[in-house]
Amino acid sequence: MTAAAQPLAEQAFAHGKVILGGEHAVVYGCSALAASIPNALELRCSPLDDAAMLELEVPHWKLHRTIPARPELDEDRLTQAIRSLFEQAQVQPWGRRIQGRTELPAGSGLGSSAALCVALAKLALGPGADKDQLFDLSMIGESVFHGEASGIDSQLALNGGLVRFTRGQKPETLHLAHPLKLWIISSDTPRQSADQVSKVKSRMFRFPKLAAPTWALFDAQVQHMQHSILSNHLKDLGEMMQMQHELLSTLGVSTPRLDALCHCAHQAGALGAKLTGAGGGGCVLVLPPPEPHEFSCALQDAMQKDMNAVFPHFPLEIPAS
Ligand code: PMV
Repeated sequence: MTAAAQPLAEQAFAHGKVILGGEHAVVYGCSALAASIPNALELRCSPLDDAAMLELEVPHWKLHRTIPARPELDEDRLTQAIRSLFEQAQVQPWGRRIQGRTELPAGSGLGSSAALCVALAKLALGPGADKDQLFDLSMIGESVFHGEASGIDSQLALNGGLVRFTRGQKPETLHLAHPLKLWIISSDTPRQSADQVSKVKSRMFRFPKLAAPTWALFDAQVQHMQHSILSNHLKDLGEMMQMQHELLSTLGVSTPRLDALCHCAHQAGALGAKLTGAGGGGCVLVLPPPEPHEFSCALQDAMQKDMNAVFPHFPLEIPAS
């Protein structure tokens, strides 16, 4: 028999995120820099006729799941993540429909899975919930998506802002004197973060002598990056982004399309461009030239000429704080 449904909260928001530097290395204890994409996901909860089912629908992600209270064999990652999260919260979500509104692309390194897990945790624990509890609960779901998740996505999804994140430590919030203007280009290639994380893990396992120098290089670049961001040295920041992209490529997580998109961004006058997030697809983060009026047109022209297609791209401004 199904237990009576607990009152889930009616509405919850969570942020998306973009990693500026240090992805993958952050899983191994290095620091990473990341900024939120504010309130990128809203979940709303309403009653469902069937008291033994949970329905989750996020039209922008073409996501529609009807999850039965009784577990089934061979459930997919998403169903497992949702089930584990509610089980851990000791909440019975059955008899509820959860509908999501977002413009974040799914599976593209912008923190869609963490945003979903944080918003679900907020629905489960309610508006008065403690932040640490929300974080821990969201990580139950996020670890199913990421394999070995550092927690950076969940931290940003929950708390937002611009942060330097080190696994297991309280994130350090960074304050900008000037807004930082960036662009994001989607490669239109979804991928699983867990596959990329395990690819890096396997490479480091097979070549253990490479690990320490690789992570040291990541750490040093991220430190330079932080300094350039805080002192508004955009040229140095662009160069660091370029170096991060090259370093991530040596880990095997770039793709010819991500490389081509970075190249187009440079052709259009960008100061730097790098893949962001786990790689293997997903998005490229671009630092546009200081006077970016013509940048969008120049980027479209470069993509059309080099790649015969214009990939989705949009600006992101990290505000001064
Ligand atoms: O959510 P993604 O795909 O952007 O990946 C997150 C960053 C990683 O460092 C690759 C994994 C992690 O959990 O830190």
